[in-house]
Amino acid sequence: MAPRRILVTSALPYANGPLHLGHMVEQIQTDIWVRFQKLRGNECHYVCASDAHGTPIMLKAEQEGISPESLIARIQASHQADSAGFLVGFDNFHTTHSPENRHYTELFYERLLAAGHIARRPIQQAFDPVKNLFLPDRYIRGGCPRCSAPDQYGDSCEACGATYGPTDLKNPVSVLSGATPVTRESEHFFFRLGDFEQMLREWTAGASVQPEIANKLNEWFEQGLQDWDISRDAPYFGFEIPREPGKYFYVWLEAPIGYMASAQDYCNRTGLAFEDFWGVDSSAELHHFIGKDIAYFHTLFWPAMLHGAGYRRPTAVHCHGFLTVNGQKMSKSRGTFVMARSYLEHLDPEYFRYYIAGKLGPAVEDIDFSLEDFVQRVNSDLVGKVVNIASRCAGFIGKRFDGKLGGADTALIAELTAAADTVAAHYEQREYAKAMRVVMGLADRANQYIDQEKPWQLAKDPTQEQRVQAVCSTGIELFRVLMTYLKPVLPAMAGRSEAFLQTTLTWDGLAAPLGTHTVATFTPLMNRVDMDKVNAMIESGKGTAEAAAVVAPVAATAPAQAPQTLPVGPEITIDDFAKIDLRVARVAAAAHVEGADKLIQLTLDLGEGERNVFAGIKSAYAPESLVGRLVVVVANLAPRKMRFGLSQGMVLAAGPGGKEIFLLSPDSGAVPGMQVK
Ligand code: MSP
Ligand code: ZN
Repeated sequence: MAPRRILVTSALPYANGPLHLGHMVEQIQTDIWVRFQKLRGNECHYVCASDAHGTPIMLKAEQEGISPESLIARIQASHQADSAGFLVGFDNFHTTHSPENRHYTELFYERLLAAGHIARRPIQQAFDPVKNLFLPDRYIRGGCPRCSAPDQYGDSCEACGATYGPTDLKNPVSVLSGATPVTRESEHFFFRLGDFEQMLREWTAGASVQPEIANKLNEWFEQGLQDWDISRDAPYFGFEIPREPGKYFYVWLEAPIGYMASAQDYCNRTGLAFEDFWGVDSSAELHHFIGKDIAYFHTLFWPAMLHGAGYRRPTAVHCHGFLTVNGQKMSKSRGTFVMARSYLEHLDPEYFRYYIAGKLGPAVEDIDFSLEDFVQRVNSDLVGKVVNIASRCAGFIGKRFDGKLGGADTALIAELTAAADTVAAHYEQREYAKAMRVVMGLADRANQYIDQEKPWQLAKDPTQEQRVQAVCSTGIELFRVLMTYLKPVLPAMAGRSEAFLQTTLTWDGLAAPLGTHTVATFTPLMNRVDMDKVNAMIESGKGTAEAAAVVAPVAATAPAQAPQTLPVGPEITIDDFAKIDLRVARVAAAAHVEGADKLIQLTLDLGEGERNVFAGIKSAYAPESLVGRLVVVVANLAPRKMRFGLSQGMVLAAGPGGKEIFLLSPDSGAVPGMQVK
């Protein structure tokens, strides 16, 4: 079969903060697939870039007192170092803040405009009169128009779950300046997504998206495809729209075009032909790996934009779930919001690559990083099974036979190589967990063989000299097969194995045993994971997470959370304060609320009797994690009737919302019912 030509991407990480382990899950998933394709002899290119534009980056630079250019340069460098640390082998890493990206963005715009796919009309928007900029919804807070809960975001209420527009908020304030936003009109540009419905329905019906995503798309089709607002007013860090001074392309319009910009930059460097990959008649494959939060952009807007601008559409968009740690959302307060760098300071990247591979499948499911399980899996599989095969055999071959292999059991080797097609099919389908299970089953088989043959006993009998060589050679041949299978996941360990085996591990080479061959001196291939190091990583995360202030914004609706502190509210007297009866309570039970996105139902023990309280903290806490902990409650708040039942009080928490909600807890020693003063 002729080698396939494949272009692969991971989502472009925002240049507004360091990478965390969630980002690494995506890059590792992609990298394994790319390395597998290369190992199979396909022509595969992996490109990525920094997503460098947008309001949050502009504001963050301003806050740091530096130019956005120097901010994005610094963060891009940190991203590249972290990806490299996890052995992610990009063939090219570019930036959306580049001439290539400007070129293609303008080209898309001109073509879409000429074909009538761009509309313009005025819209009303909240404007910060102090900062002089239009405010994205997430930068406005105020009282919920339905339940009056204070300090809610401009799109939805975390207390009652209502959704609304930012202009509906009571007493709205700009998060940036504390000023009351005013409504201003301005003309915006829109991409007429609806023009592409038929094409998108056909594309969706093909094999380009996972079944879950196809279902989601069908829902979106049912709801009707809305025009998409693709412009932003100055000040904005991005590309100005040609002939439209003061109007900029919205970052999400030009971010996916960044895939092309990186490919172009790569083609410039390597002499590859850009059109071979992006031309409308391209016979190459184009695969995007992304997270579930950005599916809308990649499966509706992006194929529509490509089609409208005269380019090919993706062969496939592969969508993965989110990383959780110990079964819960990553959390800064628990230290489980682990930065890529902080992991690398404590642990070997291949532990994580292997562990994640062992969890990944083709479905859009969340992936749990369970710390205990991690230590156990890596130690038992990689060290206990795979490395063990080589280390049990290498000593004899080195000391007694001068590194010379010979007489290996070819039937047993063939038993292991017979799985090659199965393993390959699993990698191809992103069934990495299945591939790892097959490989570990084979490793068990190899260890059984060594256990049965007992080379350490044979070695005591001088007449069994040849047998010792044959058994140990078989073990090393089997190790070679296993390491070939694992090479996409463990490139560094495969490299050390190649140095030991004195050969290059390739898929084609599976069929050819080493035979009469000399191996090098054996050096340890991987050390055991130490739980203390895992704990140290979590501890170090607790202190620094706040300082790192990294936010993975929920891209579909929200820009990054503004890091600015809110202005202090209007002054109250001690008498006003005395009216609030704050009490210590213990969470007796906590449960999900059917039909509510943000709420958790808490049963609180206040010393004398229990209360039912709905708290908008689901984005940051799993109900199970709350049971037993102490919280602080406004005990004399008038009960409120909510859609889900009566709420008898309110628990206190800090933070802007989303993942960053921090429940207030008294120190241990406090008991339910105590008054908080
Ligand atoms: N800049 C956009 C992508 C533009 S692509 C044209 C963006 N950046 S991001 O930095 O927020 O996220 C980059 C990728 O990491 C996304 O695919 C996102 O889904 C993924 N992840 C972010 N947090 C994650 C987890 N906790 N777990 C797994 N993947 C996660 O979105
Ligand atoms: Zn509300």
